Amino acid sequence: MRIALVGYGNVGRAFARLLDAKRSVFPFLISGIQKRNSSAINLAGLHVDTPINGPRLDVGDFLDQCQAEVMIEITTLEPATGEPAISHIRAAFQRGIHVITANKGPLAHAYAALCQEAMLRQCQFRFESTCMDGAPVFNMVRNCLPGVDISGFTGVLNSTSKVVIAAMRDGKSMEDGIREAQRMGIAEADASYDIDGWDSAAKTATLANVLLNANRTPLDVDRKGIGRLTPEKLEDLKSQGKTVALVSRAHRTPSGELKMRVRAEVLPETDILASLQGTSNLLLLHTDLMGTVGTVAITPGVEQTAYGLFSDLVDITKSL
Ligand SMILES: NC(=O)c1ccc[n+]([C@@H]2O[C@H](COP(=O)([O-])OP(=O)(O)OC[C@H]3O[C@@H](n4cnc5c(N)ncnc54)[C@H](OP(=O)(O)O)[C@@H]3O)[C@@H](O)[C@H]2O)c1
Repeated sequence: MRIALVGYGNVGRAFARLLDAKRSVFPFLISGIQKRNSSAINLAGLHVDTPINGPRLDVGDFLDQCQAEVMIEITTLEPATGEPAISHIRAAFQRGIHVITANKGPLAHAYAALCQEAMLRQCQFRFESTCMDGAPVFNMVRNCLPGVDISGFTGVLNSTSKVVIAAMRDGKSMEDGIREAQRMGIAEADASYDIDGWDSAAKTATLANVLLNANRTPLDVDRKGIGRLTPEKLEDLKSQGKTVALVSRAHRTPSGELKMRVRAEVLPETDILASLQGTSNLLLLHTDLMGTVGTVAITPGVEQTAYGLFSDLVDITKSL
């Protein structure tokens, strides 16, 4: 199966490494890579360190030339519009190409429309890595929770804010914490999206669109980030056995109204939302038949995000 990668940063390289490692069992082949200003195409297959020094192409021409059966969209998050990723995905569906993405922008802004386009073209559309770095969320709901109604969710979904808060609790500056997250390859290209809660708002809108049929965008999420936290404030909370986590919440009121918010919440250190260390993240789904059930990822990194793409890919091949 030929795969085209649109975007080739931390996640793209981790995914290419994973395919190289698993090729003897899973013979997937990357036939094209497109970055912001350059591309590489080889129908015999590209590897992790292939130089990407061909010309930048229109995304449609790129997909045609690499004869892709699946496009993986892993360009930079643009939380205010979801573009240009939405257009990349549309270009793939128009050609009958299946799509996998780790980019939550398109789901946060155009989930329902993209699903409709995928259905019309008989394409698969998968996005397991968008919200929990590859840990099962959407596949779990699809495969393991038949008949369950989800009325809301609570999550700590942004790893960078966790690394930054942990650094500040150790007396370091916010900038030190951001640099640490950037070294780990988990920060958004513009780290203010993590700090100001945009990444969490995009994940909240994505989860609400997919699980609660919400048809909303990140702009509809009542959002406040961690930008006003200081090491002194966190030191003070620490002395009281408390800390802060950037928490995403969504629920439907009894009248059916959807409420969504992202907040830096003060929590006891022992609270389940605050007690996971490092980049670990957590999502709890509030349901009718299963009570509260969830997913935890302990210290996920880009390798797990890459695995989420891989698991979507394997799932697509099963359905063909
Ligand atoms: N990193 C994580 O742990 C993680 C976890 C879950 C989800 N995600 C999501 O996965 C996506 C990729 O993350 P990342 O960490 O790999 O980001 P990254 O390291 O910043 O890489 C982004 C890539 O996208 C390319 N790009 C940007 N605009 C483009 C355009 N218009 N056309 C083609 N390529 C374009 C960039 O090209 P240049 O190299 O030429 O600039 C770069 O190769 C993001 O949407 C992110 O939110 C990341």
